[in-house]
Amino acid sequence: MADLVLGIETSCDDTSVALVDQNGQIAAIKTVSQYEVHSEFGGVYPELASRAHLEAILPTVEAVMKQAGADRLDLRAIGVTRGPGLMGSLLVGVSTAQALSMAWALPCYGVNHLRGHIRSVDLEQKRLTYPALVMLVSGGHTLLAYLEDQHSYELLGTTRDDSVGECYDKVARTLGLEMPGGPAIDRMAASGTACIKFPRPMIQSGYEFSFSGLKSSVARYVETNPDFEINDVAASFVDACLDVLGAKLCRAIAQKAPASLAVVGGVAASRQLRARMQQISEQTGVSLCLPPQKWATDNAAMIALATWDYIAHNAPQNLEPKPNLRLVDV
Ligand code: KG4
Ligand code: ZN
Repeated sequence: MADLVLGIETSCDDTSVALVDQNGQIAAIKTVSQYEVHSEFGGVYPELASRAHLEAILPTVEAVMKQAGADRLDLRAIGVTRGPGLMGSLLVGVSTAQALSMAWALPCYGVNHLRGHIRSVDLEQKRLTYPALVMLVSGGHTLLAYLEDQHSYELLGTTRDDSVGECYDKVARTLGLEMPGGPAIDRMAASGTACIKFPRPMIQSGYEFSFSGLKSSVARYVETNPDFEINDVAASFVDACLDVLGAKLCRAIAQKAPASLAVVGGVAASRQLRARMQQISEQTGVSLCLPPQKWATDNAAMIALATWDYIAHNAPQNLEPKPNLRLVDV
């Protein structure tokens, strides 16, 4: 029975392919990280990213089909990230998906990566209820959105400069930690004390974010305090970030009275962040929906699950890659 979607994700530096059913159960998944390719550059190097995707993509598709013991007849459709992301990287995923859809005579949907992150909370177990408040914290994005139902996306605010993930990664570099910096900061913060008073930018008002001032303030502190205690710096930085995110969330909960709160994106893998979100959920009585920790960062399972929504709503099969695709775009 054709009850699986083949999802393909190549928007940044992970080549990921997954087979997922309509209920978010993952039949098979494989993600090839490009960590080694980019580590010497201290960030993602776009030309190398697309070349690495090109090498990895077809063997990854084959591996996933084999892992699930699936063939073309088990597939309902193919779904591939068409944006936002790096143009060269998106092109590899989209053209592979297009070729497979022609060879296998299957429909093929271009999927919004941000909507994929939102659907990551429903992987393995249905969690999200509407109306929902969504906070997306990743390497590429920081945004707060209100979803009246599954189809209506209202953007409440986004960042004016760095994303939260970018800020974690840059602070990690300042502290001499390896890429990707987010997990390292999260680990160190767990054994430090938040004793340094870093600024909480734009905490007092609205839903917009700004993190570059906080990042510079950590850099200044490290420069002027050569004997700094690394765990305390990490803990103080994380505390400042979480205070800002928490304040904006509480403001939005008070204004919108959502039924649930979903926190998604790579930084939602952070144990510190998950614990703080749990506290907010208990204080406000709004149920918290987090993705399983391993599916918070980029993966094709969330893209495959989002593809089921595109199928259900008869969405256009638009395969145009769009590096700047917005949350409100299909
Ligand atoms: O969602 P994602 O995989 O890619 C984008 O769509 O951008 O997010 C990647 C970001 C990176 O900045 C990475 O450092 C951060 O998520 N991240 C974490 C953790 N795991 C990944 N940040 C904090 N704690 C973690 N455990
Ligand atoms: Zn992402």
